[in-house]
Amino acid sequence: MNRVLSGMRPTGQLHIGHLYGAMANYVKLQEKYDSFFFIADLHALTTKYEHTEMIKQNRIEVMLDWLAAGIDPEKSTLFIQSKVPEHTYLHLLLSMIVPIPWVERNTTVKDMIRDLKLKENASYGLLGYPILMTSDIILYKANYVPVGKDQVHHLEIAREIVRRFNRFYGELFPEPQPLLTEYPAIPGIDGKKMSKSLDNDIKIADSEETTQKKIMRAITDPQKIRKNDPGHPEVCTVFKLHKVFSKGETDQIAKDCRAGILGCVACKKHLAENINKTLKPIRDRRKELANKQKEIEEIFEEGSKKARKVASETLKQTMEHMKID
Ligand code: TRP
Repeated sequence: MNRVLSGMRPTGQLHIGHLYGAMANYVKLQEKYDSFFFIADLHALTTKYEHTEMIKQNRIEVMLDWLAAGIDPEKSTLFIQSKVPEHTYLHLLLSMIVPIPWVERNTTVKDMIRDLKLKENASYGLLGYPILMTSDIILYKANYVPVGKDQVHHLEIAREIVRRFNRFYGELFPEPQPLLTEYPAIPGIDGKKMSKSLDNDIKIADSEETTQKKIMRAITDPQKIRKNDPGHPEVCTVFKLHKVFSKGETDQIAKDCRAGILGCVACKKHLAENINKTLKPIRDRRKELANKQKEIEEIFEEGSKKARKVASETLKQTMEHMKID
């Protein structure tokens, strides 16, 4: 059976962009593939090295969101990167064979340095981001890696590293392919890409009241000022969210908006209700799980042990291929 692997950095509670993007995909993939999903807490250190105090709590938030969304520990191996030290060992071995220009020209890392305004605070570890990611993937000899478009350059580097390794030391690792899935676009309430750092997200863990308050702040058609002004759903962020959460109702909503019958306040209230309705089972499950934190952590401990068995075998093979064992 083909193997799939993916990871997420523990940056905090996840939002509905993650839910409809990455997590929905994990839930589907675990049915067909031998799946490994992990929390990339070492990768979180590549940018958050000054503020490590949140990492443990954030790990738990991600565990709760994943399990609530339906990622199933009976079907997938769920683990924590830092609990499998083989990732760091393989990272070091690979770092010896990666030419400097390969990491220096990495566009994803360059974007991170620009977006997070890291400049001279960008660390040596951040430059090695794709090398650690390569280790994450090839320790499990994963064939497919479900990721967003922004991660594709990392995967190109991963394949280059695999080819270089196999050429120097003999065939060992398969070349991992990205699995790009077309996600429904979930805009943030300001119309930009939904993102925790832009403070425009709706979190899975948000209460119904918080969800409603956030939706009431969402931007709509700037030309629709009064309730009875005719609106333009095609430029409206609230309408884009209706398309995801109000299936079957969107034609009517668009019609009433254009006709000036439906005002933005009522339209937003209706959207908030539908989002809350859709998320209710997941949110209920998340609340239940939050009362069982010990068991949840146990699931990831067990998964990490299982992952470690695979990883240590691959590391052994790696060292044999490199003739240092
Ligand atoms: N870089 C990925 C992200 O930010 C997280 C990640 C780390 C990852 N290691 C990985 C994803 C290995 C896939 C495979 O989304």
